[in-house]
Amino acid sequence: MTTITFTYLPGDGIGPEVGQAAIAVLNAVANKFGHGLDFEEHLIGGAAIDAGLKPLPDATYAHCKATGAILLGAVGGPKWDHLKGADRPELGSLLPLRKNLNLYANIRPCKPYAALIDHAPLKRERLEGVDFVVMRELTGGIYFGDKGRDNLGAYDECRYSEAEVERIAIKAFDLAMTRRKKVTSVDKSNVLETSRLWRETVIKVAARYPEVELEHLLVDAMTMHMLTRAQDFDVILTENMFGDILTDEASVLCGSMGVIPSASISYGTLGMYEPIHGSAPDIAGQGKANPLAMILSAAWMLRLSMGMDTEAAAIEAAVEAALDGGHTTGDLGGSLSTSEVGDWIASHVAH
Ligand code: NAD
Ligand code: IPM
Ligand code: MN
Repeated sequence: MTTITFTYLPGDGIGPEVGQAAIAVLNAVANKFGHGLDFEEHLIGGAAIDAGLKPLPDATYAHCKATGAILLGAVGGPKWDHLKGADRPELGSLLPLRKNLNLYANIRPCKPYAALIDHAPLKRERLEGVDFVVMRELTGGIYFGDKGRDNLGAYDECRYSEAEVERIAIKAFDLAMTRRKKVTSVDKSNVLETSRLWRETVIKVAARYPEVELEHLLVDAMTMHMLTRAQDFDVILTENMFGDILTDEASVLCGSMGVIPSASISYGTLGMYEPIHGSAPDIAGQGKANPLAMILSAAWMLRLSMGMDTEAAAIEAAVEAALDGGHTTGDLGGSLSTSEVGDWIASHVAH
């Protein structure tokens, strides 16, 4: 018997709610396909702080390292916003987890579901045929440079080495080779030196992929192109902060923040899987959160860390069936609760 082994980090706000729904679906997958399910739940972020621990407790990190497959809800929220620097859930848990595990490639898909096209605020003709993936650099840039306060004010240093740009560019070109063979690299090379290095390095990597078309766009213009000609994009390659911002924008094309999963990977089967959304304090504890992004993240964990393609596809088909049948939460116009959506998908997988 194969066992699905991972570390479960529910975190804060809606994290535990969408997490429960994903666990219900994973249970159904394990039953249906005859796998064992072996996971430990660990504290992270504000939940760890509230338990008197560090934002990333040693036991949590050790278990993540041991399993090499992590399913994370979200961290942070107003309760911990007064904290500074590495005492914060975001800087003290999520960022070191990404950095220490070297999860430098964050993959975020944007392919609006047919059932959601009329739900999104853009015109149908702007959304039909949209199918792109953002390859976001995740362990460098302004997030990880020196930051602090001095007598002049505050500073956040932004650094990239050529090696850091090269390895994420390779991931983007490799992915493009399996898709429509186009990479759009997004930077701010008219102003930033890190972006100039980014562009030079991407051009060098592109020379090794003669079949792949390479386009460069400045990030400010990209925010507009993403709304006006999203169909033109295949793989969007960008640095850490631009990728963060652009993917929240991409969620609008897909109908909700609650439907985009992500995978953070490096080499081999090591991976962390999490929705792109946060802890959504405005709806936490009300059963309103859409669990689809978390459930789809669990599917990606099965595919990328465990090689379970069929099982992942079964979850994805069940998600599509839920959307087609209108079995959704309020953000998508439905009337189900978080757990009801999770249970619907679990029972669809089970049949
Ligand atoms: P957010 O993504 O939590 O919420 C933005 C908006 O989208 C809110 O209106 C929220 O209700 C809605 N939304 C988000 N997820 C949803 C879902 N699954 N279903 C329905 N609606 C959903 O962003 P924010 O409010 O700017 O941040 C809240 C906290 O989350 C902050 O502390 C932030 O640092 C943290 N955060 C954590 C992660 C993470 O752990 N990966 C990601 C983003 C933000
Ligand atoms: C995300 C989040 C994080 C990020 C925060 C919480 C550090 O917004 O995963 O998109 O900016 O990477
Ligand atoms: Mn974000």
